[in-house]
Amino acid sequence: MRRTIWLVAAGITLAACEQSQEDPKARWTDSAAPASAPVERRWYTQDQVMAGAPLYRENCATCHKENAEGTPDWKTRDANGRLPPPPLNGTAHAWHHPMDILRSVVKRGGAPVGGTMPAFGEKLDEAQIDAILAWVQSHWSDEVYKIWYERDLASSTGLQSTR
Ligand code: HEC
Repeated sequence: MRRTIWLVAAGITLAACEQSQEDPKARWTDSAAPASAPVERRWYTQDQVMAGAPLYRENCATCHKENAEGTPDWKTRDANGRLPPPPLNGTAHAWHHPMDILRSVVKRGGAPVGGTMPAFGEKLDEAQIDAILAWVQSHWSDEVYKIWYERDLASSTGLQSTR
């Protein structure tokens, strides 16, 4: 049951992202964080960020790029109607998703929403996925992180910190 809700929620959120009129790039690019935002006010530890870096490089960087900058033209579908890997660095839409959706996207990949991202649920355990997400979020500015955090708290499940 819980699983179904996740998938439905992920579908709706991804669909909503695509339809958004606002250009979040224009809004956020200036404030995108440098690679090492301080962790004091965040759910993760510096150790998680450091553990996530090599895991990200190994599993995600080929598509989402070295510094999570993704594909510049991430909203434009290819000839087969597929979306390219979006930035995860706080300039695109990843920060619209509460923590459980982010975890679920990595575990299940893009298939549930008709996407092409591979699923990592068999390959990575929960601590590894959280470490990768910590590394990803360390690229988010405080401003982006704060909005994400408030949305996450407002979501039905809320952040379950592993700190
Ligand atoms: C083969 C390329 C590929 C790999 C490898 C990959 N992704 Fe993705 N990712 C995508 C694509 C393409 C999308 C857009 C949705 C879709 O088509 O599945 C996406 C979407 C996402 C999203 C949702 C972003 C949003 O704005 O809604 C997150 C989060 C994400 N990926 C994280 C990761 C992480 C973390 C890893 C490594 C564990 C990873 N991805 C590995 C291609 C990839």
